[in-house]
Amino acid sequence: MITDLWYKNAVIYCLSVESFMDSDGDGVGDFRGLARRLDYLHGLGVTAIWLMPFQASPGRDDGYDVCDYYNVDPRYGTLGDFVEFTHGAKQRGMRVLIDLVVNHTSDQHPWFQSARSDPKSPYRDWYVWSKKKPKNAHTGMVFPGVQDSTWTYDEAAKAYYFHRFYKFQPDLNTANPCVRAELLKIMGFWIQLGVSGFRMDAVPFVIAEKGPDVGAEPKPDFGMLRAFREFLQWRKGDSVIIGEANIVPKEAMKYFGDDGDRLQMMFNFHANQRLFYALASGDAEPLARALNETRPRYGTAQWGVFLRNHDELDLGRLEPEQRQAVFDAFGPEKDMQLYDRGIRRRLAPMLKADRRRLELAYSLMFTLPGTPVMRYGDEIAMGDDLALPERYCARTPMQWTDGKNGGFSLADKTFLPAISGGGFGFQTVNVAEQRRDPGSLLNWMERIIRMRQEIPEIGWGECTVLPLRDRCVLALRYDWRGNVVIFLHNFDAEPREITFRTGEKSEESAILTNLLSDEHCEPDEDGDHCVVLEGYGYRWFRVGGLDEILRRRDV
Ligand code: NOJ
Repeated sequence: MITDLWYKNAVIYCLSVESFMDSDGDGVGDFRGLARRLDYLHGLGVTAIWLMPFQASPGRDDGYDVCDYYNVDPRYGTLGDFVEFTHGAKQRGMRVLIDLVVNHTSDQHPWFQSARSDPKSPYRDWYVWSKKKPKNAHTGMVFPGVQDSTWTYDEAAKAYYFHRFYKFQPDLNTANPCVRAELLKIMGFWIQLGVSGFRMDAVPFVIAEKGPDVGAEPKPDFGMLRAFREFLQWRKGDSVIIGEANIVPKEAMKYFGDDGDRLQMMFNFHANQRLFYALASGDAEPLARALNETRPRYGTAQWGVFLRNHDELDLGRLEPEQRQAVFDAFGPEKDMQLYDRGIRRRLAPMLKADRRRLELAYSLMFTLPGTPVMRYGDEIAMGDDLALPERYCARTPMQWTDGKNGGFSLADKTFLPAISGGGFGFQTVNVAEQRRDPGSLLNWMERIIRMRQEIPEIGWGECTVLPLRDRCVLALRYDWRGNVVIFLHNFDAEPREITFRTGEKSEESAILTNLLSDEHCEPDEDGDHCVVLEGYGYRWFRVGGLDEILRRRDV
């Protein structure tokens, strides 16, 4: 059955164990704490949890610097606690995806320590070395302003090593067959422990050729992606990889593969940047174009759709004036910006916690083509702490109550302080408070997720951008198994009246059933539908009357 592809109608929730719930009062979140919050996530409607890195790590890049791939960092618990957690998730019908950070290791990893201290070490060739300082040493940095080179001299090795990211993250030589075999072993290990797949970190760099003589455009080895997929499918047929690759659409299609033989999922960074431009400027046209440019080519491929993630909002691929418009609207101060290309704030402060705009943004995320990926705290509109460095501002403890540390921990000092005071402090923004309030964002989110789950057309169907004269409004239509849904979003602060055709002649007399209220929409005598959207308004419609829909739907 083709509907076995679970990721097509999933709702993914991204969290880090560190910041979710501390069960033992040491100030750091842990697997036991997380396990106790599984009912909360289940109640919210989440169907898959993506865990950010939790393996043993010196923690210099929030866990994206692993020093033991086969263990849980002791601060978060044990492998036993991990298995208890995945079992608890499974019991509630939720899947677990984990970060797979294999472009680089920590410089503290025993492989690197062995490689640097002995030229004859079996691990020497697991990394990328150069006797002389390569000409390109000061190019290709991922964190400009914080990182000043991609090659660093190591005294013990008496050579330079390559690091695409920070210097404590030496790149693995992924061309080495032993390294490749080890990567598969890592995947096999976690698959065996119950995960359903991986969010693969930094995919373009994992598959790029690496070395001192490689030019500005390193050749990718797409064969690796196919090998990963084949291995996973063989070990556990329903496991998937969702790739992190901020690339142009033409390239992205190669990551899915022409025959659907590479990655099942990719994050849609291209649409993400245009989405923020639309939110900032009110102009939805570049977003509409981006959606057309990122249509996956074959049926099993799927985009991961997101708003903000744990990194900066990277605006690097927008036109300069578009980028400036987003900076002006959402990150005007230097302190809000990062790496000369992005904004480090969370979504709610960017939108000044304006409920209309928050609903617009999340309604959009849940109805764009693909699978929505939310971030912990989104459901209660958590804020950020710009006093913290770089991306840490958006990684603060989850706010559960108005008690000590927002209910996250009983410790006197937590790994990062919970946001306290002001409009976003745990005293006012927390789960307990919003649970009690029927009109809260949390309750809205729960309802919208429930409705999203009942519209598999979004994840599975063919998406068409309906032509409109008004650039402020985006109209999307999905077709799947004879069912049609239509979504409208108004990016402007002012009301907009739009007239549109659903797209099919046979539907000209069809009523549009509103899925979120009882304001349904009848066509006029010409077969046109007219809707007045309030400022930042949105509509979710099914084509046809309710009784007819209930009879017809096959899900
Ligand atoms: C991408 C991750 O999203 C980011 O948080 C991390 O710093 C780099 N990869 C390096 O692993």
